[in-house]
Amino acid sequence: MNVHVLENEEAIGQAAGDLFCALVRQKPAAVLGLATGISPVPSYRRMIAQYAAGKVSFAQAITFNLDEYCDLPREHKNSFFSFMQRELFSQTDFLPEHINFLDGNTADEFAESERYRLAIEAAGGIDLQLLGIGRNGHIGFNEPAENFTVEAYKTALTASTIAANSLYFDDIPMPHYAMTMGVDSILRAKRLILIATGSSKADAVKAMLEGEVTPRCPASALRRHTDVTVYLDPAAAALLRK
Ligand code: GLP
Repeated sequence: MNVHVLENEEAIGQAAGDLFCALVRQKPAAVLGLATGISPVPSYRRMIAQYAAGKVSFAQAITFNLDEYCDLPREHKNSFFSFMQRELFSQTDFLPEHINFLDGNTADEFAESERYRLAIEAAGGIDLQLLGIGRNGHIGFNEPAENFTVEAYKTALTASTIAANSLYFDDIPMPHYAMTMGVDSILRAKRLILIATGSSKADAVKAMLEGEVTPRCPASALRRHTDVTVYLDPAAAALLRK
């Protein structure tokens, strides 16, 4: 794994955003795996700036997001679909027909999982996957478990995740379930970038990079992949031996 400690979120966003822009310039129809949360936003801002400067077009690129809440209208302000519209798609030239999400309102999670797997396969697989990491080492909504997960599935959100996000749901109840890509399906990406900043991620980063590879730290599975770039700020890297 290529681990880079950069001074702050802006430097990380520029580095990671530039990797996405370089890929799309080299392969206009690139397949991008995208994430939500705070960590990816500086990278999206860099992609927006490069697009606004006329240095890249995303019009042929295809996107797949990692996860989406269940029991929430897709257009609700707190859906991950709406988050991505606000933070990236509305300010660039990604085409709506190229944007893919798991359907959190599916009546059949197994059929939806297979649909997503086949859609990613039909696109040629994900060329570059962006990830954040949860404080407990989760990726997407893959929480610590007894086994690594495989394909996309419907998962119950943890109490801490529900607590951390409930304040944003002032009009309808906070969802208690989400559809998420499984760890194996995430690892099928050709290349991955993981971003972690702040002291709250230091334990998870240490476990990911220096602990055992275990489903108790889902992010540790990335150590099995041959092309992972990790961007950390000094606070997130603070507990690393090296
Ligand atoms: C959520 C998301 C993950 C994200 C993680 C960290 O659980 N499902 O995809 O990586 O939280 O989010 P943040 O980057 O805001 O710290």
